Amino acid sequence: MIDQYAVIGNPIAHSRSPEIHAAFARQLGHQFSYLRIEAPLCDFVGTVRAFRRDGGKGANVTVPFKLEAFAMGTDHSQRAIAAGAANTFCFGLDPDAVFADNTDGVGLVRDIRQNIGVPIAQRRVLVLGAGGATRGVLAALAAEGPAELAVANRTFSTAQQLLADLSPYLNDIRAHVVDVAALPEHRFDLVINATSASLFGDLPLVPPTCFDLGGLAYDMMYGKGLTPFLALAQAAGAQAVDGIGMLVEQAAESCWLWRGVRPETKPVIAMLKRAL
Ligand code: ATR
Repeated sequence: MIDQYAVIGNPIAHSRSPEIHAAFARQLGHQFSYLRIEAPLCDFVGTVRAFRRDGGKGANVTVPFKLEAFAMGTDHSQRAIAAGAANTFCFGLDPDAVFADNTDGVGLVRDIRQNIGVPIAQRRVLVLGAGGATRGVLAALAAEGPAELAVANRTFSTAQQLLADLSPYLNDIRAHVVDVAALPEHRFDLVINATSASLFGDLPLVPPTCFDLGGLAYDMMYGKGLTPFLALAQAAGAQAVDGIGMLVEQAAESCWLWRGVRPETKPVIAMLKRAL
């Protein structure tokens, strides 16, 4: 039987991960299957166990189960511990052991640094939002050594709590919370939208003056056309990039964990962009 992997979420029909992993398999000349599995909201753990009993070797986990995935892990990577959430499982020989990892942060950083070609080191970085998406990537951003690492969120206290929780994992970078009302006084080389505002076609609370001319605006969401955040950033003179590259890079990191090989991501990113 060929090795089986899956992405587990709810809803899951929209997931592009099967396409991405099928492209990796073709490129690498590997034989494996990669399914979409919708877990009932009340039975994530049972769904994972059933997949594993049926021969699953590993899985990706997406919304809304990343916290439950972390809790299900018996062994965790440092980056999953920093995020408090997991998006990748590796199942070993011991049927009770689950290695839980988080590849979102490395996916974001690789896309920015290697695909877009923008360094994070020594740059002024602002992350918008203080939910799970921000938790997943902040430690990886800090590891790059930015000159400034700021978080702004609609609810100030949530951002404060996030930084308090993550401070042991921020590589001695002094991250700070900026009040949304004070954002017009700040400028950044890189602004990352990690809020869920784009999902609803909304604009996160960011003034156009935040974007440095020629800087990078990165929306972790993706879809056809520019999100309101990216449209604002582009009008303000920033380079506007969506999260397709991050999606492919985090998948490539999962592939590396499962198969021990790193696929080429650029052709897969180009394929997904053409299909949007
Ligand atoms: P995720 O796991 O995708 O990060 P989440 O944990 O629900 O989802 O977090 C969503 C984030 O987007 C939060 O920071 C939220 O702000 P609040 O903490 O104030 O709720 C932010 N967010 C959602 N919709 C937004 C909007 N329309 N404008 C600005 N921020 C928004």
